[in-house]
Amino acid sequence: MTDLCDLGFVKDAIGETIVSTYTLDMQPTAAPMGVVIKNNKQLLVRPYVSSLTYKNLQASRCAVVNVTSDPELFYLTAFKEANSGGKLPCGFFEKAESVAAPRLRTANAVIEVLVTKVGSFNSERAEFLCDAQLVAASKALPTVYCRAQFATIEAIVHATRIKPFLKGSKEEQERALNLLELVNVCQDVVDRTAPNSRYSELMADLSQRINSWRNQSESLR
Ligand SMILES: Cc1cc2nc3c(=O)[nH]c(=O)nc-3n(C[C@H](O)[C@H](O)[C@H](O)COP(=O)(O)O)c2cc1C
Repeated sequence: MTDLCDLGFVKDAIGETIVSTYTLDMQPTAAPMGVVIKNNKQLLVRPYVSSLTYKNLQASRCAVVNVTSDPELFYLTAFKEANSGGKLPCGFFEKAESVAAPRLRTANAVIEVLVTKVGSFNSERAEFLCDAQLVAASKALPTVYCRAQFATIEAIVHATRIKPFLKGSKEEQERALNLLELVNVCQDVVDRTAPNSRYSELMADLSQRINSWRNQSESLR
């Protein structure tokens, strides 16, 4: 079996993936999640306890960890409201082979996992220890390093924290503004290296979304 190190996971470094699960009523869903490997066959997923992925993992005790570098997949799975109808299309998914979870059809690799232990990472995040049951990789060609591609994913990570922080305490709102600065740095990279690209379109959509959260949180004050 292909092992986790073959997919670029490195000890003590977070690998950014998309974790797919079934909801309690068996709807396929997915969300970006950082994972850390313990060894060639085990990994840790650390979802916020407020996330749907946490709820699903608790209930089903299995998932698929999907490997991709596609910013659009990160965007649509991080912000379900960006999909038409506010929900990820069923066509994104197929059934996993070895666990009762969905997997992303267009992933470059999939790791089908069973949860073997549930613990707490900190006051806000749980920690699921997972055993790989199956690792399958596509024969994707090597891809060039594109700054705009990774800047877009970086901006999406920051934006997922901006949303809850804008609704929070004064201190959290301060943190939201700091994250907004980081999104602006990513925006600058995309503007300079990939104007008029799919990445600049995603960044424009993201920035509109952030503005609408800011307007909403201001109108609540
Ligand atoms: C690259 C990336 C990595 C992320 N890593 C995590 C993570 O490790 N844990 C977590 O709870 N959220 C993480 N997020 C944020 C969640 O994906 C986001 O809050 C999402 O909306 C949760 O969806 P869900 O409620 O359907 O699970 C990450 C986002 C991105 C873009």
